[in-house]
Amino acid sequence: MKIFLIGFMGCGKSTLGRKLATRLGYTLIDLDHKIEKIANSTIANYFSTHGEDAFRKLESQTLQTLEYPTNCVIATGGGTPCYFDNMDWMNANGLTIYIEMTPLALAKRLEQGIAKRPLLGNLSEQGIVQFIENKLEERNMYYKKAKYILNGINLTPEQIHALVLAQD
Ligand code: S3P
Repeated sequence: MKIFLIGFMGCGKSTLGRKLATRLGYTLIDLDHKIEKIANSTIANYFSTHGEDAFRKLESQTLQTLEYPTNCVIATGGGTPCYFDNMDWMNANGLTIYIEMTPLALAKRLEQGIAKRPLLGNLSEQGIVQFIENKLEERNMYYKKAKYILNGINLTPEQIHALVLAQD
């Protein structure tokens, strides 16, 4: 089974993904890392050299053409579900789980590591909250197509594991 973790930057997709994969004995695939390997560039550099449109194309192509192991957990990028037919493709090819969090909670978690996230540029803390609110408004229609929507605060890999076990 493929388990796609989706949600905004900072919601914990990679950390939860790693723990969940370990629990299940599945392989973890971090989509951003795959893209960085294929492009031989960090995401931030790729954005500044080629622009966002080129990044979105590469992201979609990577998502939809990777050779996945039979059982894996995929930590997607925050924008992955929102471009091309990526969300429908993930729903058709695996179990999608949206890790939901409020803009304020996300902003607090994003304060560190802003440099790695080109979309945040050099926004102030208040600017980040506003940016997240606006983006979530655009993105929720995609995120909410996920099969499961889980509150990311205090979410544990055990809770996601239980959902996975409940699938046929
Ligand atoms: C993005 C999120 C990032 C990365 C890129 C764009 C977004 O991934 O794919 O910087 O559009 O939200 P994370 O959610 O893993 O930070």
